[in-house]
Amino acid sequence: MPRVLTGIQSTGIPHLGNILGALLPAIEMSKRSENESYLFIADLHSLTQIKNSEILHQNTFYTASAWLACGLDTDKTVFYKQSDVPQTTELTWYLNCFYPYNRLQLAHSFKDKSNTLQDINAGLFSYPILMAADILLYDADIVPVGKDQIQHLEITRSVANRFNRQMGETLVLPKAQVQKDAQEIPGSDGLKMSKSKNNVISIFEGTNKLRKQIMSIKTDSKGINQPKNPETCTIFKLYSLISRQREKRKLKEQYLSGSIGYGQAKSLLLDKITKQFENETKNFEYYLAHPEIVEEKLSQGAKRAQNTANYVLTRVRKQLGY
Ligand code: ADP
Ligand code: TRP
Repeated sequence: MPRVLTGIQSTGIPHLGNILGALLPAIEMSKRSENESYLFIADLHSLTQIKNSEILHQNTFYTASAWLACGLDTDKTVFYKQSDVPQTTELTWYLNCFYPYNRLQLAHSFKDKSNTLQDINAGLFSYPILMAADILLYDADIVPVGKDQIQHLEITRSVANRFNRQMGETLVLPKAQVQKDAQEIPGSDGLKMSKSKNNVISIFEGTNKLRKQIMSIKTDSKGINQPKNPETCTIFKLYSLISRQREKRKLKEQYLSGSIGYGQAKSLLLDKITKQFENETKNFEYYLAHPEIVEEKLSQGAKRAQNTANYVLTRVRKQLGY
């Protein structure tokens, strides 16, 4: 049975890009009966950026609530937070000793972040190795991720290969699975949606905020009756991702014939998002009001995750002679 595993950092309330690019595809995969799935919150990774314990705790809770609100079924899925499995950091150390320092310098995530962040700590540098440990600790076969994580998966395979070559066959080599339609969801400025860029569309933060974010989507300056190019328009791109073919075709025709203005298209998108995520929004509010349910689910998941982690780590220690 292929084992599917993915994680999401707890750096805030998950936005539409996270939901379409990571949460929903992973939940979809976990529902297929042929898969065994592990979905987790990468709260140790968040520590590279956040140093406030209250915020760390809150973000983990929001992220867990978002997973559950989007339909994650904890009977079918091992659902946990990374910090509940200390085996992860032990494996990280072993892997650190099998990966060349200079190759980590080439990681995009480090290069990007070290250009924009003030706190360039060593954790940020070895971030990909912690991620490799997250994956290799569970013998994962398939890792659904956004396009930006492909390099991290290459590093994971590479470090597993290096370990296996030097210590004997031990670790399972995972494959990345990148969702085609949702590889890079654009934000309100047309660039990749990201918490760090202040361009997110959030479905879990109330209608007023959502409306403001949608109304702030950048467009060109074409007037209401001018024909417009749907391919380059962020409103159209977002609408397409959550609509039926028929609805998408209709909006495309309206764009090309100049029978819809950007204001109207934004209202259409707002309606679509509100309807499409009505259940998820309600569920999210339910979990916010019942933190004890979320905590209980995470603690059950931690036990299951630790079982697998111990099994794999015992194998690794044995190969290393510990
Ligand atoms: P952010 O950039 O907002 O901080 P994260 O880096 O925490 O988001 O990403 C969490 C998950 O969501 C990852 O699997 C990532 O690939 C996916 N993801 C983030 N932003 C997008 C996006 N704009 N389009 C598609 N997937 C995304
Ligand atoms: N680095 C990933 C991100 O920023 C999150 C993550 C941590 C992850 N560990 C993982 C994703 C293991 C998949 C598998 O999105």
